[in-house]
Amino acid sequence: MSEQNLNGSSGTNGAKPKRSIEVNRHATTQMDDMALSTDPNVLMSVRDLQQHFPINQGIIFQKQVGAVRAVDGISFDVRKGETLGLVGESGCGKSTTGRTILHLSKPTGGKIYFQGQDITNIKGQELKKVRRHMTMIFQDPYASLNPRLTVQNIVSEPLVIHGIGTPKERSEKVQELLELVGLSRHYGSRYPHEFSGGQRQRVGIARALAASPSFIVADEPVSALDVSIQAQVVNLMEDLQSRLNLTYLFVAHDLSVVRHISNRVAVMYLGKIVELADRDTIYTTPGHPYTRALLSAVPIPDPKAEKQRKRIILAGDVPSPINPPPACRFHTRCPLVQQICREQTPEFRDIGGGHFAACHFAEDVADGKLAMV
Ligand SMILES: Nc1ncnc2c1ncn2[C@@H]1O[C@H](COP(=O)(O)OP(=O)(O)OP(=O)(O)O)[C@@H](O)[C@H]1O
Ligand code: SF4
Ligand SMILES: [Mg+2]
Repeated sequence: MSEQNLNGSSGTNGAKPKRSIEVNRHATTQMDDMALSTDPNVLMSVRDLQQHFPINQGIIFQKQVGAVRAVDGISFDVRKGETLGLVGESGCGKSTTGRTILHLSKPTGGKIYFQGQDITNIKGQELKKVRRHMTMIFQDPYASLNPRLTVQNIVSEPLVIHGIGTPKERSEKVQELLELVGLSRHYGSRYPHEFSGGQRQRVGIARALAASPSFIVADEPVSALDVSIQAQVVNLMEDLQSRLNLTYLFVAHDLSVVRHISNRVAVMYLGKIVELADRDTIYTTPGHPYTRALLSAVPIPDPKAEKQRKRIILAGDVPSPINPPPACRFHTRCPLVQQICREQTPEFRDIGGGHFAACHFAEDVADGKLAMV
């Protein structure tokens, strides 16, 4: 086991290893071997995390006949105060990852650490105590707010659950929170239907902040909003992050939103993280063919560059997470596929300076030696 860690902050001293066009057969570290980072700047870590949903059959005697491998062995760290973007196509396991690390559903395998504490199997009061420090902002501000409750009741709910403050103190706290998210402090008596989509998402953010969490999973927090409102909500989230020293796992389809807000980006494909690196590396020198394909679909604001943009069209559909392809999961769609990809699972390895990729040819893809179009 090497000194590698998944927060990219040590282990290589920033030096890129010598690149070769050979397959990296002696790659260093299997993902599930990754030691827990001892870096005090790491807030949340997962190691070999799995979430397999059972598929049962039978009317009287239910029998498990398979499983949806929604999250299938992923490892990463989230550093204090950073935004880690999590991107990938629909159904690749982004929301399941977010929900599992927040303990909204129990993992079927692997470990979750929060502030160095193993929280994988905690329950009851211990879990409640940890939950206060982590929360979620949901995608749909229409569905995530109870239409029968006033904003006062919605925002103060976490305070009630965690027994924080007297009713008067809670009421004052709600007013402060509403102001903090850019709403009038007098909106507490209103109901969700009296707000626009952007305002509702602000109410959702106020509720998420009520119990003063340090870690927030934001699951597509702006994708249900008008484009004109999206930037306002993203800016608000950035502003709150620096004011309150928040750490975000920011889940999104939209690679341009993720680029704007993230310090580092993780790319998921079919239940696995296939690439993880700092934002600029991901966007300029991605080492995984899937990341290259995703990026090739993003329009470029510069008209000249946009005209030259070559889109990589992937063959076929995303395979089923019930029965993912063997070896490299991406091999059924990868334009660079070789025989080895069908036979050997590529390790999720550091190809230099905290840039992790799970491809036998990651160095050459990153260097542009292997072109995809
Ligand atoms: N409770 C569940 N029971 C069974 N399968 C589930 C459950 N929740 C999610 N899945 C399946 O797990 C896979 C991953 O789902 P998930 O919602 O995490 O994907 P996602 O990346 O968030 O997709 P999207 O971008 O569409 O939100 C999908 O195949 C989904 O159908
Ligand atoms: S290991 Fe092979 S199939 Fe998988 S992404 Fe790399 S080149 Fe493509
Ligand atoms: Mg989702």
